[in-house]
Amino acid sequence: MRSVVVVPAGRRDGNVSRESDALANLPAPFSTAAELVGNFSRKNLTAEDMVVLSGAHTIGVSHCSSFTNRLYGFSAGSDVDPTMSPAYAFLLRAVCPSNSSQFFPNTTVDMDVITPAALDNRYYVGLTNNLGLFTSDQALLTNATLKASVDEFVKSEKRWKSKFVKAMVKMGGIEVLTGTQGEVRLNCRVVNRRSIAAAAATDLELTTMAGAEVAAS
Ligand code: HEM
Repeated sequence: MRSVVVVPAGRRDGNVSRESDALANLPAPFSTAAELVGNFSRKNLTAEDMVVLSGAHTIGVSHCSSFTNRLYGFSAGSDVDPTMSPAYAFLLRAVCPSNSSQFFPNTTVDMDVITPAALDNRYYVGLTNNLGLFTSDQALLTNATLKASVDEFVKSEKRWKSKFVKAMVKMGGIEVLTGTQGEVRLNCRVVNRRSIAAAAATDLELTTMAGAEVAAS
């Protein structure tokens, strides 16, 4: 079934985009429940928002490097994370050998193994059947409050969807720029061409000035 969601448009974003900023702001897939809650609260999102938004993992894929920590050398007593379904771990080990990041860097697996292409609540159903992919997915079961939200969304897809829409809009308002700061991007993943051109021109000017200085000395 097609879902139509109305969201505000025209968010002013920065005109600089760096990979290192993403890594500093996004939680790692190896995070514990406390780390996840902390990460989201720094962006004014609640623990419930965090569980609701994690449901986005109902679609999409992941590279092996994000979860092989659970498949090889997990702990002194167990090679595989014992909280993961052994059958699921067996399947993942077949797709992602222990050296996969080195030899198969482009291999990916679906994050929701039940219904990978549908925006539904099966991500939560998977979680409660030990089919969560990341340590951070599994972490949602390790705290009673977070687990209560997971159970709520297993029971009612409708409640998850209505909360998901609200949390997505809330997330879209994080650190939004105002006035003449930044720009409204034409493609949300990329800064506009004009600002790239402006940055390149500034770089050129600096290079030319540095060149002039060298020539003068
Ligand atoms: C709770 C903390 C979260 C963690 C630790 C996390 C971690 C990850 C990781 C490791 C991947 C796979 C990256 C890769 O190896 O290629 C991923 C993919 C993805 N995540 Fe999250 N994520 C989180 C929250 C979110 C939120 C809040 C959303 C959106 C509302 C989201 C949406 C997605 C989507 C759509 C993909 C798939 C991208 C694709 O198919 O290319 N995630 N996430």
